[in-house]
Amino acid sequence: MKELAPGSRLVVASHNPGKVWEIKELIAPYGFDAVSAGDLKLAEPEETETTFEGNARLKALAAAAGSGLPALADDSGLEVDALGGAPGIYSARWAGPGKDFALAMQRVHDALAEKGAWDGLPPRANFISVLCLAWPSGENRLFEGRVYGTLRWPPRGGNGFGYDPMFVPDGERLTFGEMEPAAKYAISHRTRAFEAFRRHCLEHVPKADAPAAGGRDLEALEAAARNLSTQAELKRFIAGLREDLARNGSAWTTQDLAGFLAALETATAAADVPDAEPRWRTLARALLAASR
Ligand code: IMP
Repeated sequence: MKELAPGSRLVVASHNPGKVWEIKELIAPYGFDAVSAGDLKLAEPEETETTFEGNARLKALAAAAGSGLPALADDSGLEVDALGGAPGIYSARWAGPGKDFALAMQRVHDALAEKGAWDGLPPRANFISVLCLAWPSGENRLFEGRVYGTLRWPPRGGNGFGYDPMFVPDGERLTFGEMEPAAKYAISHRTRAFEAFRRHCLEHVPKADAPAAGGRDLEALEAAARNLSTQAELKRFIAGLREDLARNGSAWTTQDLAGFLAALETATAAADVPDAEPRWRTLARALLAASR
């Protein structure tokens, strides 16, 4: 599995602002330059798979291919034992087009009532989050986190989102909806999935406040790309980029030729230059952008 280098640009493959914020918070201490799929105007793929793993992978691969950058996606939901794991991957869809989670919780309640599952001990359930890190080459890896607990009716508390007000994690008295956000955060399924991701992918990444040894001199490369104007200067710039690859290749965001070319294509499309005025420096800047 390729490694994420400090300072890499990473796409958070979600159009859900709450989730994007949460994932950005989790990776911020590692100094990643996180950008959301929404910011990059990437299309939101339809979640057509039948598992959390499949949907997380589908979203991460689409964002990685569309951006030429490594991408991190999450798929999550509530699984209720007595409902055979429902609502599961359909957790968001049970809230209907209006994203009405009072309605979604009512549906869970009613489905359990039909089975007489409220009569004895509180029904058991768990939240699950699956994270997928994918590269433009298609390489990808999954990480899973769960939090187990029981359901309550009626729902309690105004914090959190989704099914939080009806879920009490094991060992607690309060629902996720009643808990302070930090208390939920400390034990949540997403935090646990992220912890697995951190152990496998970030153990070697120093926290942002610990400066990395050596590394790329991006300021110098940027200045060269901004100022060059002749064919000879572009040639020298490319030689410098090649030297940078040899010394700091692990810090390049694009780790293979396919990823580099995809990023180059994106950077070329983004360059704001009239067709009649192509310049060597336009190419230099696109080449540099494709390595970041
Ligand atoms: P996704 O955006 O396809 O991953 O759908 C996730 C859905 O699962 C959300 O819309 C919520 O309904 C539910 N869900 C996931 N995580 C949580 C959580 O932490 N609390 C409450 N509901 C959650």
